[in-house]
Amino acid sequence: MKSTLWNDWQNTLYSVPTHKFDNGLTEYQIAGQIADLLNSYNHLKTKHTPSTILSDKVKYFIELYGQDVIGCVGLLYELALDKICHLTIKPEFRRKGFGRKLIYRAKEFSQRSAVYMSIREDNIGSLNLATSLGFRAIAYKRTNDYNLLILFMEK
Ligand SMILES: CC(C)(COP(=O)(O)OP(=O)(O)OC[C@H]1O[C@@H](n2cnc3c(N)ncnc32)[C@H](O)[C@@H]1OP(=O)(O)O)[C@@H](O)C(=O)NCCC(=O)NCCS
Repeated sequence: MKSTLWNDWQNTLYSVPTHKFDNGLTEYQIAGQIADLLNSYNHLKTKHTPSTILSDKVKYFIELYGQDVIGCVGLLYELALDKICHLTIKPEFRRKGFGRKLIYRAKEFSQRSAVYMSIREDNIGSLNLATSLGFRAIAYKRTNDYNLLILFMEK
């Protein structure tokens, strides 16, 4: 394992649809790996494919280990605020600070004065992560399948 990865901010690439990558991976391959991460570890209603990722309004930030996408997070431009969403870290890379790093990158990239996240109330790890970064819960939303906390942070 390359120890440089853990703190090397150069390894965080972003803007999958618009940027070219110099690591030998095509945009389509990166999009495929993001789709696999989301399909495997996030409980999304939409099944993602490379094409849905490439055409998504969500801008993705990724963490690379060699040619493996080991984590991703999305930034969605909305009318009033930007939403940070689709956060996933591969299980073997968790609790090493990558989730925190990706959220930080997405937040800094946003041009808005505040960002928000929507997290299931039973996702303790993700809630801990968000609150440790300064997000605070401002609303509670019930759906048919699960309950969500809306967490907000001013930049
Ligand atoms: C939630 C997730 C993204 C966290 O990623 P991560 O890289 O492990 O997070 P970090 O290492 O940056 O953790 C930062 C802090 O968040 C909290 N945290 C993260 N995972 C946690 C867990 N499973 N239980 C409790 N606290 C947790 C801790 O406070 C942690 O700090 P510490 O390790 O110093 O105690 C990851 O577990 C994951 O991909 N889960 C599956 C998908 C998912 O639930 N996505 C979130 C959708 S909103």
